[in-house]
Amino acid sequence: MISSQTLVDLLNEQIRNELYSHAIYLAMSGWYETTPFKGFAAKYHAAALEEHGHAMRFYTYLADRDARIKVLAVPEPPFEYESVVSAAKAALEQERLVSSQIRKIYSQAQKDEDFETLSFLKWFLDEQVEEEKTAQDFLGYVELAAGHPVALLELDEKAIPAVAASPDTK
Ligand SMILES: [Fe+2]
Ligand SMILES: [Fe+2]
Repeated sequence: MISSQTLVDLLNEQIRNELYSHAIYLAMSGWYETTPFKGFAAKYHAAALEEHGHAMRFYTYLADRDARIKVLAVPEPPFEYESVVSAAKAALEQERLVSSQIRKIYSQAQKDEDFETLSFLKWFLDEQVEEEKTAQDFLGYVELAAGHPVALLELDEKAIPAVAASPDTK
């Protein structure tokens, strides 16, 4: 069991935060479906499934530690973007926000000397480094290609994930 209620609350909030990432990316994928960029739609569809997997990691961890699971309401995500660049900026902002949320839980677990939670969170710290880098790189590419439809379509083709829309719950 986890003795700190503050820590349990933060872990439950993180289920919601990861589900919010899921919702943002699913809505972003939906927006891309209204554009010619079907590769970007597939990329964010896959990202949404990954985020759902992250939420389930927190869920399973709380269950394993015999802590009470609370499923909190997920806010409605934006579903309209001005451009590919603004969507990419929103994705980077969301990843930076999640990184700060993970650091906050880590810091609470340090205060509580909950070593198991520190160990559990290690995977997420590493994952966020990767996710921020991916989002930053993608923003760089689309900023460079912005205003050049052929370049954007080339990026779009390359963006299709290797296993498109597979139920990857990494
Ligand atoms: Fe995540
Ligand atoms: Fe993420």
